[in-house]
Amino acid sequence: MSQLFSEAILGALTLRNHLVMAPMTRNRATGNIPNELMAEYYGQRASAGLIITEGTSPSPNGLGYPRIPGIFSREQIEGWKLITDAVHAKNGKIIIQFMHCGRIGHPLNLPAGARVLGPSAVAAAGEIYTDAEGLKQQVVPQEMSEGDIKVAIEEFAQAARNSIEAGFDGIELHSANGYLLEQFIRPNSNQRTDRYGGAIENRARFVLEVADAAIEAIGKERVGIRLSPYGIFNDMPLYPEIEADYNYLARQLNERNLLYIHLVDHSSMGAPEVPSSIKAMFRNEFNGTLILSGGYDAARAESDLAEGKGDLISVGRLFISNPDLVTRWKTGAAVNEPDMNSFYLSGPKGYTDYPALSN
Ligand SMILES: Cc1cc2nc3c(=O)[nH]c(=O)nc-3n(C[C@H](O)[C@H](O)[C@H](O)COP(=O)(O)O)c2cc1C
Repeated sequence: MSQLFSEAILGALTLRNHLVMAPMTRNRATGNIPNELMAEYYGQRASAGLIITEGTSPSPNGLGYPRIPGIFSREQIEGWKLITDAVHAKNGKIIIQFMHCGRIGHPLNLPAGARVLGPSAVAAAGEIYTDAEGLKQQVVPQEMSEGDIKVAIEEFAQAARNSIEAGFDGIELHSANGYLLEQFIRPNSNQRTDRYGGAIENRARFVLEVADAAIEAIGKERVGIRLSPYGIFNDMPLYPEIEADYNYLARQLNERNLLYIHLVDHSSMGAPEVPSSIKAMFRNEFNGTLILSGGYDAARAESDLAEGKGDLISVGRLFISNPDLVTRWKTGAAVNEPDMNSFYLSGPKGYTDYPALSN
């Protein structure tokens, strides 16, 4: 009996299978506004049990990359309705990922008046792409004041309300991969000496306050979170207390009865492997749904589900290149390989033109 292709329960949602399309930034939202092309792309992939959208900014300050969408303006809410309608019309389910880029960003990518913010005035190593001038050095972010923190929390809460208005089935807080929420958690990017920095109880305060505000806005059964314990992407080096810190987070998130925790494991992309002990720790400490991700094929997805390591399996790159991945995995058909060169381009090439089996 396949568990992967059987129905799954996620809070109040019934998913038609255990396969989740992972959140993936695709940079097709010209002017930061979701559009018809994106509705076509997500609609093509609606046979996933659940789609998690690309990282979407709750604030003008969070739009660190070119052409990523937001969910803070009226046009953006209206734009997202095209997408939620397209997915729901095919009986799919869709959750929006909130990605505030924080210090990963560049003024050239931001709208007028927006600011590159971070917990501390510490630049990430490396470069970032801008449409205007190509690759640029990462900039030193402005250290967020307590007032900035309050504003950001309210932006997340308002974005949660906007998402429900736009027809989403829930939200995912992107607290992984080196973006703002993780910047507060990790000691290299958070060097504050106030109640948001120092001990893990302080470094975790911002993400937990954001989670509380989102829960208050739309209910705990609609709020999930993504974490990358052992993630090093965007200049997030490992450090000795990392396991203890994520253990604290797991317990705090469990107390809040969040809908799910979605763990990142980028070892298939060259990142350090997430020890199985850490995944087991989340399994033990967190009573809600656990979503596992990273380098899955159908066989490994099926066996991890059967062994109870996680409740749902999310898949990224193969959903880019296979709009009908569920059918292909179910029937054992060959899969299309993803073309990395078109991941972040504008327009339909490498986006909506991957063939489905019936085409
Ligand atoms: C093009 C691309 C864009 C991505 N953008 C995001 C993102 O916006 N938010 C996020 O949490 N992860 C993002 N990821 C990571 C994926 O969600 C996933 O964790 C990763 O691709 C590993 O899964 P896979 O081996 O099935 O591809 C991205 C990955 C790719 C390939």
